[in-house]
Amino acid sequence: MVITTLPASWFRSKPLYALERQSIFLRAWHLLGPVIRFSVPEEKVFYELAQVRFYITNTAENGIKAYIADTSSPLRTYLTASGLLFATLSDEAPEFKDFFPNLEPLVDRVDFTRLRYRRSISYEGHFNWKTMIDGYQECLHCVYTHPTFSALYPPTFYSVEPYTNFCRHIADPSKPDDGLFLYFFPVCTLNVYGGGMSSFRTCPTEEPGVSRMEFDYYHEGTDEEFEKYFSFVRQVALEDFELCEGAQRNLEAGVYSQGVLNPEKERGVAYYQGRVKELVMEAFQREKEKRLKEQEAMEKDKGPNDGLTMKTRAIEM
Ligand SMILES: [Fe+2]
Repeated sequence: MVITTLPASWFRSKPLYALERQSIFLRAWHLLGPVIRFSVPEEKVFYELAQVRFYITNTAENGIKAYIADTSSPLRTYLTASGLLFATLSDEAPEFKDFFPNLEPLVDRVDFTRLRYRRSISYEGHFNWKTMIDGYQECLHCVYTHPTFSALYPPTFYSVEPYTNFCRHIADPSKPDDGLFLYFFPVCTLNVYGGGMSSFRTCPTEEPGVSRMEFDYYHEGTDEEFEKYFSFVRQVALEDFELCEGAQRNLEAGVYSQGVLNPEKERGVAYYQGRVKELVMEAFQREKEKRLKEQEAMEKDKGPNDGLTMKTRAIEM
């Protein structure tokens, strides 16, 4: 069976993003980072995902909690035994274990709390959130786009394994603690490579062609070692950034409409795009049924009355 990509229009449509927001973002669990990110007592760490602004605080009294910024209403959080903190954006999200049924046995083998939190950066890019995830979920582009990365992690071994709502990437099977990349559907990642760890979120804005990249960096070494690691991973991120802005320009030019995915080398892209399609189509169907019911109810309501009004109007005329 041929696996096709999502149509190019899905990367530039506002109504489509409205469906994604309802059916994907508000119904998911999002990785906020390893628990060490929240180690400063009372500090509020702010996030904005799919136009929901919220913060995390860690207090002696209540532990780690998430609240919506404007209303202070609580959001659900989940902390894995390996120290990864996740949160929901609405009550529409299922239970953590239903969203990620097989995540914990896998990530609990790695200690994500051994590295110190060092720095966060954030900036906007001209690309849809899926344009960035497309690139993240395969490494066919690595050899051309990331010469320094490919020298350390040759793409020969690179593999992506899809689970439920997350994927594990392994750069080199002989080094399970280095070159480990985790993708959490829809937009969060955790990347252990180059001697440190980073986590990024590709936050969709209301403009389908603009996303905000947010990165958090973790490293245990000296300041000098951290800066060396930082410039290495920043180089890789900038290479991806340029690739995504170029890809988005093509998606918006209207020349390309749909392509075919390699079932092996683009397995990760096929997996996450399949989830997007499935959830958006379900939301579209729900919306259609809702509108049909509303229309039927309206017609039922105005049935005989409307006839009367029409007659009265005819007489008046
Ligand atoms: Fe890349």
